[in-house]
Amino acid sequence: MEQAVVELPFRADLLGEGKRYLIITFGCQANECDSEVLAGMLESAGYRPAAGPEEADLIVINTCSVRRKPEEKVAGLLGRLRKLKENNRALLIAVGGCMAQRPEAAADLARRFPFLDLIFGTHALPRFPQLLEQAGQSRRPLIDIAEATAGRKGLPVRRSSSFKAWLPVIYGCNNFCSYCIVPHVRGRECSRSFAEIIAEARSLEEAGYLEITLLGQNVNSYGNDLAAGAGGDFAALLAELDRSAGPARIRFLTSHPKDLSPRLIEVIARGKKICEHLHLPAQAGSNRILERMNRRYTRERYLELVAALKKEVPGIALTTDLMVGFPGETEADFRETLALLDEAEFDQAYTFIYSPRPGTRAAAMKEQLDAAEKNERLQRLTRRQNEISLRLNRAQLGRTVELLVEGRSKNNPEMLSGRTRTNKLVHFAAAEDLSGRLVTVEITGAYTWYLTGELV
Ligand code: SAH
Ligand code: SF4
Ligand code: F3S
Repeated sequence: MEQAVVELPFRADLLGEGKRYLIITFGCQANECDSEVLAGMLESAGYRPAAGPEEADLIVINTCSVRRKPEEKVAGLLGRLRKLKENNRALLIAVGGCMAQRPEAAADLARRFPFLDLIFGTHALPRFPQLLEQAGQSRRPLIDIAEATAGRKGLPVRRSSSFKAWLPVIYGCNNFCSYCIVPHVRGRECSRSFAEIIAEARSLEEAGYLEITLLGQNVNSYGNDLAAGAGGDFAALLAELDRSAGPARIRFLTSHPKDLSPRLIEVIARGKKICEHLHLPAQAGSNRILERMNRRYTRERYLELVAALKKEVPGIALTTDLMVGFPGETEADFRETLALLDEAEFDQAYTFIYSPRPGTRAAAMKEQLDAAEKNERLQRLTRRQNEISLRLNRAQLGRTVELLVEGRSKNNPEMLSGRTRTNKLVHFAAAEDLSGRLVTVEITGAYTWYLTGELV
């Protein structure tokens, strides 16, 4: 009898049966969020999580390219994984994310680590299961860094928390700050639809989530790429989430100062669920450097925004990102960044040494500073900020605040840790594990990086 030839469709459900996976994530919240999608795709293909690299049949490294250091860490990690691969031929190793999306970095990885099975860029994320299936069969490594993005709609997500969730609202970035690799590796801005975001917030609330963090490289550009009438801009989205859908706490990252509208400040001020915390990267305090960075705001404009936020949203905590050693930064420029700390009074600042990224405009600028000078400036900057953080934290003493408990303290398992609405970290003692619950504590201790409290 003649046998019918049946073309089997891609059977994602068979791919990982009986196998275990491990995902190692570098970089920002966008990558953490993508790793949850990778985990979702793997689990719907039958894979289960592995406790460590030795137990894994598949290791995925989700990489970051924003500075040189996270790229070097990936190389170090792959050096250590080489042994595992030699001892276990069946082990698959895949490298994805922002570093993989950078063509020179992808080629370099393939050359230095020929045992890699798959290198896939940020745009290839939705194609991951198919790529994985091919990777086991083809010549190593299979590389997919094509910029064609298949939509992410409907991809499964395996969230790592049962009470707080990332909720991406816009992918990519159009800003091309002159130092930054992100627009090169994440592509142009692409907003998810209003309806899709609201629906996801609703389902998170129904699933018992207490906090969502809306994500985008610049959430304030949300909707610019959508048709007029498609729902609205970021202020409208935030207002709608606050009014009608979603968990008890709403956060969002990151706001670009150039697009922070008075309407958005008003929405934050009126919001019930919107937390009193804003992360507003300043990058530098000198107008000359801001201009060379292509940030498109001035120091004066930035300080105006800070003043408006503090006035309209009483008790708001402000955090920022700052960079030292941008090409051509003089001592006088740097002092303007120091002075900005005193004027803005940030609760916390994430401080970075400028790292030239291949292909960006700043990397081609002359007047690159030497390492010793950059290090010295970083130390002065963090010292000044630490004093301010401690002073502002001390002002919290005696206050009664709401915490979302995140789990046991990393350094002392007898303590629990949680975050205030202002995103401050608080450690406190408790007899039972209150993880994933909202509790009230009185602040009794204040330090540079955290507070301590007592349950009330
Ligand atoms: N989209 C976000 C930030 C993305 S990168 C924003 O616009 O704020 C996170 C931070 O890394 C940036 O705010 C910046 O301070 C820092 N950063 C980006 N590129 C860098 C580089 N080449 N060297 C050092 N720090 C950098
Ligand atoms: Fe990078 Fe600027 Fe875009 Fe932020 S806004 S991701 S710093 S280019
Ligand atoms: Fe994030 Fe690093 Fe990519 S900061 S967007 S993971 S380059």
